Amino acid sequence: MEMTFGIIKPDAVKKGNIGAILNRINEKGFKVVAMKMIQMSASDAGGFYEVHKERPFYNDLVEFMISGPVVVMALEKNDAVKGWRDLMGATNPKEAAEGTIRKDFAESIDANAVHGSDSLENAAIEVSYFFSKTELVNQ
Ligand code: CMP
Repeated sequence: MEMTFGIIKPDAVKKGNIGAILNRINEKGFKVVAMKMIQMSASDAGGFYEVHKERPFYNDLVEFMISGPVVVMALEKNDAVKGWRDLMGATNPKEAAEGTIRKDFAESIDANAVHGSDSLENAAIEVSYFFSKTELVNQ
């Protein structure tokens, strides 16, 4: 079993797509280990995306991520990191495959509906950024 980390981003929350995205997650057989809706501060979002600090899109990314509530979640499944990335689709929805979440729910590379960890190592870091051990309640 692997654990990965996901975010339903402000665009998808605003459009009322939490339920539809969770349905896709259920259909693929992920177990939701932890989940909560939060409003990030600039320092929360800035710290989370610290690896992108030098990228030209960093400030816009932080602004976007604090523009409304998000749903953060820890997801468990065999090969969860790759499985969640496959289900999300390409970062840029214009390049996302048919049937992926970003193809169906995302507007642009900035407002791209969901986030997912890119490696098992980053998944552990990202889960622990938002959840304490006692919040991982469904393992
Ligand atoms: P996410 O998976 O949350 O990780 C970083 C985010 O930065 C990414 O999704 C995109 O929403 C956003 N972003 C904006 N521009 C770019 C870009 N050129 N390359 C990668 N990510 C970008």
